[in-house]
Amino acid sequence: MNEGTSSTGRSSAASGTPIQPPASFVAGANVTDGSLRESFAERWPECWERAADFLDWSSPYDTVLDATDGYDWFAGGTLNASYNCVDRHVEAGRKSHAALKWEGRLGETRTYTYHDLYREVNALAAALRERGVEAGDVVTTYMPMLPELPVTMLACARIGAVHSVVFAGYSADALAMRLADTESAYLVTCDGYYRRGTAYDLKRKADNACLDVPQSVDRLIVDRLDDDRSYGDNYVGYAALLDEYRGETVEPVPRAASDPLFVIYTSGTTGRPKAVRHTTGGYLAQVAWTSHAVLDLGPGDTHLCSADVGWITGHSYVVYGPLALGATTVLYEGTSDYPERDHLWGIVERNAVDVFYAAPTVIRAFMKWGAEYPADHDLSSLRLLGTVGEPIDETTWRWYHENVGGGECPIVDTWWQTETGGILVSTLPGVDAMRPGAAGPPLPGIAADVVDPHGSPVEPGESGSLVLTRPWPGMALDLGESTGEDPTDWRYETGDAATVDAGGYVRLLGREGNTLNVAGRRLGTREVEAAIVAVDGVAEAAVVGAEDTRRDTVLYAYVTPQRDAGSEARLRERVRDAVADAIGGFAVPDVVLLTPDLPKTRSGKVLRRHLRQIANGEAVSDTGALRNPEIVGELESIVDGVS
Ligand code: WTA
Repeated sequence: MNEGTSSTGRSSAASGTPIQPPASFVAGANVTDGSLRESFAERWPECWERAADFLDWSSPYDTVLDATDGYDWFAGGTLNASYNCVDRHVEAGRKSHAALKWEGRLGETRTYTYHDLYREVNALAAALRERGVEAGDVVTTYMPMLPELPVTMLACARIGAVHSVVFAGYSADALAMRLADTESAYLVTCDGYYRRGTAYDLKRKADNACLDVPQSVDRLIVDRLDDDRSYGDNYVGYAALLDEYRGETVEPVPRAASDPLFVIYTSGTTGRPKAVRHTTGGYLAQVAWTSHAVLDLGPGDTHLCSADVGWITGHSYVVYGPLALGATTVLYEGTSDYPERDHLWGIVERNAVDVFYAAPTVIRAFMKWGAEYPADHDLSSLRLLGTVGEPIDETTWRWYHENVGGGECPIVDTWWQTETGGILVSTLPGVDAMRPGAAGPPLPGIAADVVDPHGSPVEPGESGSLVLTRPWPGMALDLGESTGEDPTDWRYETGDAATVDAGGYVRLLGREGNTLNVAGRRLGTREVEAAIVAVDGVAEAAVVGAEDTRRDTVLYAYVTPQRDAGSEARLRERVRDAVADAIGGFAVPDVVLLTPDLPKTRSGKVLRRHLRQIANGEAVSDTGALRNPEIVGELESIVDGVS
């Protein structure tokens, strides 16, 4: 194993000695079989039966993986996701168990037992069906973290409709793009929401989006703000509608394993977000199995995942995974530091949370605020901690382990993506030793390689690109559609840089292309650039990510104004507004620099690598390819001027 320095400059030896999971955790863990990886490898792809066994099938599948024309997981099988997440737990005598606990921004709490969830989902499914929603139709949601959001997702699943959840922080334009792209004729939204005590209007954004799409959109609206506002003729009130259908039940519609359960948009390499469709059978099997094996969840456990349901992490590990297993999932509205910086730890304490799952950026914020906030609360209910969304550095890992987990909880550093549906690389917390800073080996049944630009595996410790070399059930539909001439050559390029050590542990180094992980969210720099260059007075723009002292990604926009662009301050403001309008406030660059030019090659290609180095305050290397090397010094002094 090469103990040298990785491409991020951190020494791979820094991972120190592996940490064994505590015996107290192993004693109660769901998975303790150390030979699981081998048994999956020996029986591949049949090993995935194990994941499918977590589900109840309406009709059994014929083959685990049919690879005759693309990849078709659990071919021939039918099932319903809402039945699997709700009905079967009620039938198994757990109707009074909490399925969903919610804490609202104003301190309200609501608990839905599995039976409550059953009633709500049935009533909404009946209402949606009555409004014309049919199997295969796309129903869009645009809501913050309210219980009505998972209820709507499950009601769609019940009648075979495909949901498209749009994060409430997205702008009207972003919602319109998604509505139009999916030709969705149904929208479930809410009037507004509270963030840090302030009410935000969501309905206005929904109105604007609907004006902008060719189809007419049937709209349901949840009353969150309770402000006596009239919604007008275009909206039907959610609560009143549900009241009409209370007591009605709707037979869950059996869906083919490969039928889409939902569509979700993510940032790709182009200026436009890309649609990712996940299947009913393979996806649900993957998230149920990983919730069991990695998050160690089961009936009786309470899970808190801090991700918004609008992102894939929320789909898989707030909604589908925990509910498929009959666990309790906790949903909270808003941010972790309002009204106080201990808000999240209060939620953990009040709900006796067993498993806590969050992005490293959240943990780094807690670390900055200080250990007194978690220390103020009784966190002894926690058994397991998890992270997702970006690499976790060793310092943050140790802080989390000590101050949140009391040194007793294993940490799973879980690597996956929107496209993978569920976790693919992680330690099994009851089996594997932890190496802070490394996610872990690929899960049983998953095959991954770190390769050089020619596709050949690199030596242990050397950096390369992470590729997945075998399909898995939770893969997005689009990934498995074509397997080419020789399916054994199939591979999926993840777009992440990584190293792998001699023990098979994968250490992630960050994204390779032009997508970034910003505050635990994936964002495409090309999408942000597309919004900026559309601004009047902007000639050119390039957006890159830099790391701040807390290792959080900060967005730098280098913008070249046109000659007659007018006031610089106003132009900066227009740039910020344009990004907020096109994508949402969360995508607005932290720094907008007005620059006379961008570093370009002789053929006119912008070298973003240099822009990244300048933003990071690093020495700019290899300016030989530039046709305008003098711009580098100029940009350095502009950046110096703002930092
Ligand atoms: C990054 C979120 C390091 C990675 C589930 C990936 C991680 C992108 C980890 C996907 C991890 C996710 N360590 N990096 N444990 N988990 N990532 O689609 O760059 O929003 O490609 O899915 O997040 O982001 P996405």
